[in-house]
Amino acid sequence: MQDLKEKIDVSRLPNHIAIIMDGNGRWAKEKGEDRLFGHFHGVESVRNIVEGCAELGIGYLTLYAFSTENWDRPENEVNGLMELLVDTVRREVDTLNKNNIKLHVIGDMNMLPSYAFDELQEAREMTSHNTGLNLVMALSYSSRWELVNAVKNIAIDVQAGEIDPQKITHKTLEKYLCTSDFPDPELMIRTSGEYRISNFLLYQLAYAELYFTNTRWPDFRKDNLYEAILDFQSRERRFGKISEQLQEEMK
Ligand code: IPE
Ligand code: IPE
Ligand code: MG
Repeated sequence: MQDLKEKIDVSRLPNHIAIIMDGNGRWAKEKGEDRLFGHFHGVESVRNIVEGCAELGIGYLTLYAFSTENWDRPENEVNGLMELLVDTVRREVDTLNKNNIKLHVIGDMNMLPSYAFDELQEAREMTSHNTGLNLVMALSYSSRWELVNAVKNIAIDVQAGEIDPQKITHKTLEKYLCTSDFPDPELMIRTSGEYRISNFLLYQLAYAELYFTNTRWPDFRKDNLYEAILDFQSRERRFGKISEQLQEEMK
């Protein structure tokens, strides 16, 4: 069988891939283990997929790791996840630097325990000079939180006379989102067989290609990523136009 990776057209890679890493809990339960066991194994998938994206030359990878709503999970799971996060970040910084990967974080950082906040800050600073893959971790993130926050800050700047409300465009709004430094994702992958967005990048995914797979996150590896990219490359992205117009533009 031909290597999946070799089938990928490297001239038509998505520049930004976003992933909802879902299914850790069920993966563990299916094995008769505790949910945290699943999260622990999910870290191996993160490593593998980050490496896979860096090897391909993908510009941006956003990983949904913890949502605003996930704070409502049982206390032991939330604490376990925070510890795993801090532990992983601490352990991976050297590898990130070795692979020229720059770490970013989006979400409501004020919600994080201070030890996690500090660890992330440090990792961001330590990788800030890197110029390869931009790894964006969505932590304590939700789109509705982000949009409300953006509207609040726009209102403050309008009140201060810094913005003329008549001149607000989509570009203004985009500047106030946590993703202002990143292009929109072109491909969004969700694992574990759930077909929903769960409050993830609602604005930014406006024209993303959506890819769903039954594979649980702890089983997701480079080959699964390549399959998603190949699927992406088989699609026609029309952005509201018709097929014939796109063909004309290609000439
Ligand atoms: C995704 O896996 C990881 C987080 C949300 C932190 P889940 O923990 O949601 O696993 P399932 O969906 O319950 O199987
Ligand atoms: C979405 O997964 C959030 C992350 C993967 C971090 P959830 O498991 O929290 O989403 P729902 O509850 O199934 O929609
Ligand atoms: Mg889930």
